[in-house]
Amino acid sequence: MLEQKKAQTEHELIPEIMNRWSPRAFADREVEVEKLQRIFEAARWAPSSTNEQPWRFIVASKGDEHYDKLYGCLNEWNRKWTWTAPVLVATLAKKNFTKNDKPNKHSWHDLGLAMGNLSAQATHENLYLHQMAGIHTEEVERLFEVDTDAYEVVSMFVLGYQDEKRLQELEERYHESELKERSRKPLNELVFGKRFGEAVKW
Ligand SMILES: Cc1cc2nc3c(=O)[nH]c(=O)nc-3n(C[C@H](O)[C@H](O)[C@H](O)COP(=O)(O)O)c2cc1C
Repeated sequence: MLEQKKAQTEHELIPEIMNRWSPRAFADREVEVEKLQRIFEAARWAPSSTNEQPWRFIVASKGDEHYDKLYGCLNEWNRKWTWTAPVLVATLAKKNFTKNDKPNKHSWHDLGLAMGNLSAQATHENLYLHQMAGIHTEEVERLFEVDTDAYEVVSMFVLGYQDEKRLQELEERYHESELKERSRKPLNELVFGKRFGEAVKW
């Protein structure tokens, strides 16, 4: 991996978190089916409100008949770099609880947990993902005949092996972020104690 992409953390973390980052230049290399199965298995075992498991995924690998259909649902900015990645995925959330058909306020939260699991397993497998909100959700829903009374498309992501050499094949506007250090807000701006906005005293 690119050394400057390793998280400069305030506290030491497990490699699956330290080493994850979101590349735009992917290697021209297929992802092994067993690895794909393992990363979705990781998603499957995420916790969820009342164990509803509201996450769903549509997966397309390059060469699949439906790959171009899914690729066409990305916005222009994302189409211009995602073509380097071998696997493209759309994520969906089930809107209501199955048991009582009441709105599940935490369905996106729980999909996010599944994505966290999936992402940690992918990093463990030396794979990288890049998630995207820049997509045409209604197009995914229409083209893949999603029952929109029950499900909504939330995001998409690409998955593959990272390869910075591939950056030469991408437009200049994608280069800077691919090579610069990653940054985060300091912990004391995020974790509060006796009042909201006031850093916790450990
Ligand atoms: C929900 C979500 C939506 C995102 N949408 C896009 C996107 O449409 N296009 C893009 O290039 N990156 C997108 N990103 C990537 C973020 O910009 C990236 O995760 C962030 O800058 C932090 O960088 P890191 O993942 O390398 O730590 C998205 C990430 C998430 C989690």
